[in-house]
Amino acid sequence: MAKLKKPPKVNIKQVEKLISDYKGRKWGLIPLAEEIQEKFGYIPPEVIPHIAATLRLFPAQVQGVITFYSQLYTHPRGKNIARVCRGTACHVRGGKSILKLVKQHLGVDEGETTEDMEYTLETVACIGVCALAPNLVVNNKIYGNMNPKKVAAIFGSRGGH
Ligand code: FES
Repeated sequence: MAKLKKPPKVNIKQVEKLISDYKGRKWGLIPLAEEIQEKFGYIPPEVIPHIAATLRLFPAQVQGVITFYSQLYTHPRGKNIARVCRGTACHVRGGKSILKLVKQHLGVDEGETTEDMEYTLETVACIGVCALAPNLVVNNKIYGNMNPKKVAAIFGSRGGH
């Protein structure tokens, strides 16, 4: 799950009307969560008690559903998602070093988002192009045969974060 060191403050008033439209509609949790995520890019944890009270659920139930759905996020995510493959083929061909280098360039750990919200760094299971290992995916673009030079070419200007 992506984390930002200091998540920005959100104005709950922006979604109060939206939440109240779902009053008492327990079934509406997922569509409501999706609408909130569309607005903020994630589901701010501070809205969870409001959602729970309005839908007549326990906050833990709301949190549980949000955590269960991999398309719902409780932390802000960057404009770009960089994923380093942690599958076996990539691992044995240096994927771990690639991950370390990407972390250094972005200045974040796995699961975190850069302060400027440009990148979220994640790892991913085998993406099926093992012949090109080690692989990196940025958004939907696959970068194969990764090496330190290629990492620098992709993220180089961000060095020193
Ligand atoms: S292990 Fe990385 S693509 Fe298969």
